[in-house]
Amino acid sequence: KRLVFIGPPGSGKGTQSPVIKDEFCLCHLSTGDMLRAAVAAKSPLGVKAKEAMDKGELVSDDLVVGIMDEAMNKPKCQKGFILDGFPRTVTQAEKLDEMLNRRGAQIDKVLNFAIDDSVLEERITGRWIHPSSGRSYHTKFAPPKVPGVDDVTGEPLIQRKDDNADVLRSRLDAFHKQTQPVIDYYAKKGNLVNIPAEKAPEEVTKVVKKVVST
Ligand code: AP5
Ligand code: ZN
Repeated sequence: KRLVFIGPPGSGKGTQSPVIKDEFCLCHLSTGDMLRAAVAAKSPLGVKAKEAMDKGELVSDDLVVGIMDEAMNKPKCQKGFILDGFPRTVTQAEKLDEMLNRRGAQIDKVLNFAIDDSVLEERITGRWIHPSSGRSYHTKFAPPKVPGVDDVTGEPLIQRKDDNADVLRSRLDAFHKQTQPVIDYYAKKGNLVNIPAEKAPEEVTKVVKKVVST
């Protein structure tokens, strides 16, 4: 299966991806996680991406297309993948089609995590992540067993620099202006499925599993 998870910040893409990846033996490719790792490592890519990310703006298409093209070559991604947070512009969607054509492949389904903007601030400001694994928690909706500590490794959790109400406004603006046209692009192609993303996490998982397995 080759899947795209698309939706606004806090809609649940990163929460559902690990569950679905394990269930269907896919690899999880999140451009956000890859970019945050590059920023933490202060690599040339990270240095270029940091400013836009801190402001809640999109990183340039060339940069993200480059990292995605490379990531897709990983042996474990040959059986299938979940693209989380990519493509986010129509240009990226067109480049993705080219990348897949070269590999004789195509996207099976695009899952649109549909949710009202009004619930996203609470989700975003309460999120805590374990940076090395990408696992995320929420102080109210998905608390860790011990506050501030990852359940699996016991390592400390951190808050993302862009997870505040101010930067969220820019991220939402980017979503509506630049990513909504991508949703329209896939709706026209006929492989878009809407997921009611405001439901509880387990309910969303049920719907996503059903969509992916049919
Ligand atoms: P990215 O990391 O992709 O951030 P985002 O799109 O803003 O998405 P989020 O990670 O905030 O949302 P999510 O849907 O994964 O939410 P989650 O499941 O964690 O991108 C970051 C930045 O990198 C961008 O701003 C841009 O600068 C750059 N970038 C990345 N990709 C790019 C691209 N392709 N092109 C250009 N630039 C790019 O959930 C959030 C919280 O809610 C968690 O605490 C979770 O526990 C909780 N939660 C989840 N589901 C539920 C539920 N059902 N009920 C209650 N709480 C829930
Ligand atoms: Zn995410």
